[in-house]
Amino acid sequence: NTRYRIALIPGDGIGTEVLPPARAVLDAVGRRHGLSFAYDSFDWSCERHLAEGAMMPADGPDRIRHHDAVLLGAVGRPGVPDHVSLWGLLIPLRRRFRQYVNLRPIKVLTGVPSPLARATADVDFVVVRENVEGEYSEIGGRLNRGFPDEMAVQEAVFTRPGVERVLDHAFTAARARGGHLVSATKSNGIVHTMPFWDELVREAADRFPGVAWRQEHIDALVAKIVLDPTAFDVIVGSNLFGDILSDLAAAVAGSIGLAPAANLNPEREYPSMFEPVHGSAPDIAGQGVANPLGAIWSASMMLDHLGHPEAAAEIFDAFTSVLATTDARTPDLGGTATTEEFTRLILAAVTDR
Ligand code: NAD
Ligand code: IPM
Ligand code: MN
Repeated sequence: NTRYRIALIPGDGIGTEVLPPARAVLDAVGRRHGLSFAYDSFDWSCERHLAEGAMMPADGPDRIRHHDAVLLGAVGRPGVPDHVSLWGLLIPLRRRFRQYVNLRPIKVLTGVPSPLARATADVDFVVVRENVEGEYSEIGGRLNRGFPDEMAVQEAVFTRPGVERVLDHAFTAARARGGHLVSATKSNGIVHTMPFWDELVREAADRFPGVAWRQEHIDALVAKIVLDPTAFDVIVGSNLFGDILSDLAAAVAGSIGLAPAANLNPEREYPSMFEPVHGSAPDIAGQGVANPLGAIWSASMMLDHLGHPEAAAEIFDAFTSVLATTDARTPDLGGTATTEEFTRLILAAVTDR
């Protein structure tokens, strides 16, 4: 029996509604594979910020750095500015734990229609998002507040080691999938960082001679994804481009509610963090109708990362079979099921195998 210590950070809004399903599914699959999970739950959230003045305690990262993995719901709540909530929790955790790869797979699943007529079950690609630098930087500032010449400056930071490591991960993924890589760039408009990114992509390509690759400008790329999402395999992009691409990809697969994410520290010096791509969805929070699939699929990615691909596949098979064989769906997928009803079916599919 292998025991893992998992740090749970439900966060805000539907974050608190989608983590219990993920945990229930993990426990059910774990029982079949001799895996058990000891969860430590942390109340780090906008609630905590309002009550205590900080999203998490100053030593928050130290409290979870020896856990085997982190499962996070989502943070963000009306009344707390988003840059405060996100820079108070999510972004520092990704950085402190050197989770420089954010893997966001997308598949069109049987029984979940894509809004795109051309999207078939052949849609199966992964966005590899640089996760700790790039456009998400603290360098810059606001000047002349309240004056007519008011301005804001934000520096994007691209370091050679920071870009090389995520590119190597993306090329390795493309090679493992027997596929090709597309690099999202904007070197026609962004004159310093993006040409540098392109150069590093060419160098990385030389390290992976068998892998076909090309680059696409981000504007043209998003149009091509909409026109034919079956034509992609691995798409690597900077922090901001990867963020935008992953919500686009989620919508192509039917709903942002089902997209998973793995924030990976490939060296395993620190825990990796698994979270749905979506946010706290204040518009539906508290109604019990959030789609739990993004969180459940993220839990499956966690098992894969912990070295249990069969258990991970069982989770994936359980929810895809529920989608393929029943019409139970949460409202984002056009159904009337609650989070709980839908989760119960997935749990039954896990145990009935
Ligand atoms: P969002 O992902 O929360 O919601 C976008 C839309 O998708 C909403 O209409 C929502 O109802 C719907 N949706 C999202 N997840 C769903 C699910 N599981 N089931 C059904 N419908 C779902 O994005 P937003 O509205 O831009 O952001 C809301 C808040 O969440 C903000 O505070 C934002 O900063 C935060 N946020 C947090 C994270 C995170 O913690 N990882 C990620 C994105 C946004
Ligand atoms: C995501 C989210 C976050 C990001 C925000 C909330 C800071 O959109 O995880 O995709 O941009 O990384
Ligand atoms: Mn996002």
